[in-house]
Amino acid sequence: MNSILQHDLNNFENILEKAKQQGIDFLKNLENIPTSNKNTIDPKRSLNELGLGSVQALKEFNERLSPLLVSSPGPRYWGFVTGGSTPASIVGDWLASVYDQNTQSVTSQGGNSALIEFETINLLLQLLELPDSFLGGFVTGATMSNFTTLGVARQWFGKQFGKDFAKNGISETINVLTATPHSSSVKSLSMLGIGSQNYTVVKTIEGNREALDLADLEEKIKGLNGKPFILISSAGTVNTADFDDFEAILKLKEKYNFWWHIDGAFGGFAAVSEKYKHFVKGWEGADSITIDCHKWLNVPYESAFYLIKKEHINLQIETFQNSNAPYLGNPLENFNYLNVVPENSRRLRALPVWFSLVAYGKEGFCDIIEKSTSLALHFGNKLIENRYFELLAPIRLNNVCFTLKGNENQDKVNVFLTKLNDTGKVFMTPTFYENKKGIRASFVNWRTTEDDISIVIEEMKTILDDLDL
Ligand SMILES: Cc1ncc(COP(=O)(O)O)c(C=O)c1O
Repeated sequence: MNSILQHDLNNFENILEKAKQQGIDFLKNLENIPTSNKNTIDPKRSLNELGLGSVQALKEFNERLSPLLVSSPGPRYWGFVTGGSTPASIVGDWLASVYDQNTQSVTSQGGNSALIEFETINLLLQLLELPDSFLGGFVTGATMSNFTTLGVARQWFGKQFGKDFAKNGISETINVLTATPHSSSVKSLSMLGIGSQNYTVVKTIEGNREALDLADLEEKIKGLNGKPFILISSAGTVNTADFDDFEAILKLKEKYNFWWHIDGAFGGFAAVSEKYKHFVKGWEGADSITIDCHKWLNVPYESAFYLIKKEHINLQIETFQNSNAPYLGNPLENFNYLNVVPENSRRLRALPVWFSLVAYGKEGFCDIIEKSTSLALHFGNKLIENRYFELLAPIRLNNVCFTLKGNENQDKVNVFLTKLNDTGKVFMTPTFYENKKGIRASFVNWRTTEDDISIVIEEMKTILDDLDL
């Protein structure tokens, strides 16, 4: 063994102790770490012939690289839909690295970490009050979950014509209907060879809604003259957290032949609260569902799961099986995650979620969800009180979509947001909604409080003064 590696091996405990302390310092100081910065490096560092060892590498990381990083898990990072990380989720995440399993099968790979994944999916089904007619697994994010589920939908579509698209390629035009798909579903259509432009846009309900207009949906279905199709529906659109009417879609399932997918990346967690679960009523009838854990479940990044009805397991295996690996045996008898998802090698991604669910239970997550929604309303009310802002949509759940009031101020929206984000006190995302430039603030972080909102409102007022509207 090389001397540096040997030294690190002898020094393991001290190294991990230093990393732990570094983590504690970061997390303790989260509120004071800026949500944005303009620090930079020349990323062309030359590789050492002789390594520095972990302790020196950590020192260099602190000096050169850590200044590039922002308070993304902090309470005022409201951009995208970004959760933080709870203590339990960090324990799970760290231990997933330490144990470094390749989570594939239940019996044949030397260990049984897949059982931890099964148990975690089962806990999630209980949290979301979904039946165990779904099988699920972990992937990196909702984009990958949409890709996985729509990949199986593509195989289902082929089978309606007696064709095996996974084996022979796509040889039929695939009909996809959707109203307000997240860009990641469109990206998935592109990656799946369906084509990012090859979907039919269903109208949304009139009156500032992003949900499917059911009359138009049925009209478009009839236009297909009995041909099968894939429906991509939404449990929480990213701009305004709007939900399609799942009970109505469930009824359509009795009349028409389609694969029903729900993207509930963050909105699926509405199911956890008595107040909001009506939004997802009927969703158990879907063929597949996408949900992100690195959003409202507040686990570190690269954590999402797919749910696909058990009855579709053969289609899923046809889509993803490693047919050139005979040592796997019969993929149905010897269940192996690498035959049902895009990745072969997989870390024990379920562990942070397992720790979170066991540590905080249903009540803990109900608390996070309901607190986030009441903070979104509180922020919305503060905006309305100020004559320079207007909401672009009602606040249904946790996302606040707003802009500067008045068409004459439209060209100042981006300047306003840039100045606001540059304060480092808060981070929000630009958007475009109802033909207007807007700003989106998403409340998902378990640490956010009303004090954070007061801090942000003060910053916003200062920038308004500077802009001289
Ligand atoms: C509704 C919806 N679907 C999919 C995604 C993509 O998620 P990810 O970035 O985890 O791939 C997002 C992200 O915001 C989302 O809000």
